[in-house]
Amino acid sequence: MNTILLGAQWGDEGKGKVVDHLSAKADLVIRFQGGNNAGHSLWVGGKKTVLHLIPSGILHPHTTCLIGEGVVLDPNVFIQEISQLQSAKVFTKASDRIKVAERTHLILPFHRALDVARETGAKGTKAHIGTTGRGIGPAYETKALRKGVRAIDLFLGESIFLEKIETLMNEYSGKFTADEFTELKKQTLKDLDYWKKILEPMLVDSTSFLMKNHAENKRFLFEGAQGVMLDLDHGTYPYVTSSSTTSPAAGIGAAYPKLTRSCRVLGIAKAYITRVGTGPVPTEMLGNHVEGELEVAENIRKLGHEFGATTGRPRRIGWQDLVALKYAVDVAGIDEMAIMKGDILAGMEDFKVCVEYRKPNGEKWNQFPSTVEDLADAKPIYESVKGWKVANSSDPDYRNYLEKIEKYLGVSVKYVGYGPEREQMEVR
Ligand code: GDP
Ligand code: IMO
Ligand code: MG
Repeated sequence: MNTILLGAQWGDEGKGKVVDHLSAKADLVIRFQGGNNAGHSLWVGGKKTVLHLIPSGILHPHTTCLIGEGVVLDPNVFIQEISQLQSAKVFTKASDRIKVAERTHLILPFHRALDVARETGAKGTKAHIGTTGRGIGPAYETKALRKGVRAIDLFLGESIFLEKIETLMNEYSGKFTADEFTELKKQTLKDLDYWKKILEPMLVDSTSFLMKNHAENKRFLFEGAQGVMLDLDHGTYPYVTSSSTTSPAAGIGAAYPKLTRSCRVLGIAKAYITRVGTGPVPTEMLGNHVEGELEVAENIRKLGHEFGATTGRPRRIGWQDLVALKYAVDVAGIDEMAIMKGDILAGMEDFKVCVEYRKPNGEKWNQFPSTVEDLADAKPIYESVKGWKVANSSDPDYRNYLEKIEKYLGVSVKYVGYGPEREQMEVR
């Protein structure tokens, strides 16, 4: 079955692991949004691989991996990731295994510098988003401004490409000192030939590429990055990323919508909540909701290694939030779920699950709040579920937790992750 896989919370749900698992039965694995803000971890045979740009199906030698035009691609990071995988003997010739859509926008050094400068300037204010500092927001911004440069533009001829860079960067010259601006230009131009050499054999028109493979009955797996709560339109705006992370984005960011319309949409969630970056998280364990929750958060962070795979930042920890998860299921069109990392909670006496938000006046919120101001005021109402010993269906207490999730969401939990390794996954 062709699948679109999405994060259903605030990212880092375990998407990489599920993509790796499902790639055993996929021929093409496709990234369609985001960039190297993503960090997808795979554990195979005791060895960890973290992928930021290259699809998480790459460790299965039979797959072809496509980076769609909905992605923003930092060529330096891409080349570095290729070279890491080459050193690990994942492949010898990258272009045999990896394709890049011609229309993919590039992240240039000034995008990254702009992201970092804005975040540094906003520290301590409401405008601080806590981005990954990888230039993602600025790259999507210049794309929408219609001044961005794309992978295919590298091959237009030097003078045309340089003119595009000039026009693009001049738009932001006021944001840097003259010396900084000259240095950023120098950094951009120094590796152009190298970028061309690596990218040239990989470039494809994504629609014809996907159509051809579809006609050959190939099996497709679309790999979302980030999560529904970080979606630009439907997430906890403005504390979101700059791309669309819900299922229709797959039909835009690797454009063969006839295929994506008939895909199953699989949402990935943890048994609890994590979040990096700023913005309200109603069920965050901050010591003000449930007795002893700060210690619970600390334990989960330690046991679950809850530190960002991209930036290393400690992840914020929360109780399971079914109100947010149900919103994600509806807004992203999720058909089935995978629940990951229940093993990290094994041995706890009980675990809290948020089933309702209340307004400050005590009224129930009948919909997921549309503003972060309201979300920050939302009071979570919890129910307790009995703790479990083992995080798979063999344990009646864990089964009970999974069934509670299914009943609330109205979709079934098809996969259960109970450890980081490829094999530690139950298919129900
Ligand atoms: P992604 O961004 O959604 O791919 O998730 P990350 O890789 O950023 O973070 C998920 C972390 O949890 C990684 O360290 C995974 O190796 C790990 N992980 C994934 N699934 C499970 C699971 O079921 N149990 C445990 N213990 N770890 C898991
Ligand atoms: P994966 O794919 C978790 C968060 C950042 C910040 C906000 C905006 O590994 O789940 P950006 O750099 O995108 O402009 O940052 O989004 N963020 C993620 N959080 N996992 C991710 O990716 C994320 N990608 C971005 O922390 O809050
Ligand atoms: Mg991650």
